[in-house]
Amino acid sequence: MKQRIQEKFNTLFGEPGDLYASAGRINLIGEHTDYNGGYVFPGAIDCGIMAEIKVNGTQKVRAFSLDYDEYVEFGLQEEDKPEQQWARYIFGVCRETIKRCGKVEGFDTVFAGDVPLGAGLSSSAALESTYAFALNEIFGNGIDKFQLAKIGQSTEHNYCGVKCGIMDQFASLFGKAGSLIRLNCKTMEYKYFPFNPEGYRLVLIDSCVKHELASSAYNKRRASCENAAAAIRKNHPEVEFLSDAKRVWLDEVRDDIPEEDFLRAEYVIGEVQRVLDVCDALERGDYETVGEMMYQTHFGMSKLYEVSCEELDFLNKLARKMDVTGSRVMGGGFGGCTINLVKDELYMPFIEAVMDQFTEKFGHAPKVYNVVISDGARKL
Ligand code: GLA
Repeated sequence: MKQRIQEKFNTLFGEPGDLYASAGRINLIGEHTDYNGGYVFPGAIDCGIMAEIKVNGTQKVRAFSLDYDEYVEFGLQEEDKPEQQWARYIFGVCRETIKRCGKVEGFDTVFAGDVPLGAGLSSSAALESTYAFALNEIFGNGIDKFQLAKIGQSTEHNYCGVKCGIMDQFASLFGKAGSLIRLNCKTMEYKYFPFNPEGYRLVLIDSCVKHELASSAYNKRRASCENAAAAIRKNHPEVEFLSDAKRVWLDEVRDDIPEEDFLRAEYVIGEVQRVLDVCDALERGDYETVGEMMYQTHFGMSKLYEVSCEELDFLNKLARKMDVTGSRVMGGGFGGCTINLVKDELYMPFIEAVMDQFTEKFGHAPKVYNVVISDGARKL
């Protein structure tokens, strides 16, 4: 990838620039909790985005995407927003940096990625984090990493129409090889947990159901949570986010909110607690509990939050049938991957069964990713 980027950069722009990279992410547990002020437990992975960048002395960005084989030029004013979605991520990062009083001037760039698209591994956060991190260094803005994550998140909100939480950008920027990170999305306190489950493997199974059309459903889930939190707040003013609410407080407002919002909130309140339980279990080396919590999350995401799909439910059921330790839909949902915690000796039989049975049922093979927990944003 690096060589392809450098060759293209050389052909298009001549003199080399600097190379930066950032990562996609997994999340062991804590889904749809970030925008509810709860906990998440992600880690950066060994696939991501790499970009070569050089200041060009103009007020224009000249960008080439190797994966789309497409060249785009845009200015840095609000009205210069490009048509291409991939270019909007870079444009959004420039604009959000400028809004925070950072300096951004024209630059030339070529980038490529190896995060599978639409698989729920946050290729877009990897792209945003790469440029947020790089522009901050190149223009010497001195913006801290939390703000860089916010720049990526605001890019999604303001230029891509997804009202996402902070998890993906945070993981992409703060990721550390061999560690998962528990983040409290309300206080932004975080803690690294070395993750090396001896005797187990972490494997992702990609249903290959693309989740990219999910933004409106995602925003709808978020609205349901805010509605439930607002109802609870009437009785308990201390509830700033849904994650502040106790389960019994939700029961008090059951008749005041739509049933759908109640179910969404029920899931979120349970999920926040599960992250804490998983962290405790990990510290004891109790992987059976970790796995059980993952199954509970899947149940909640499928039946209460309703962000699973037939293919993902099938993968989850098959994992359970085969005594896989833990399995659940990962990320925003509506397609993408399951994340599975599998005992070493069960790994091969599980993969074989998944390949055979999924392909037979759905007519296409799933993909298998053996991810390694790796470093986040960096200069190469
Ligand atoms: C997407 C969003 C994140 C988070 C997850 C669900 O990946 O970008 O902010 O809400 O979904 O946990």
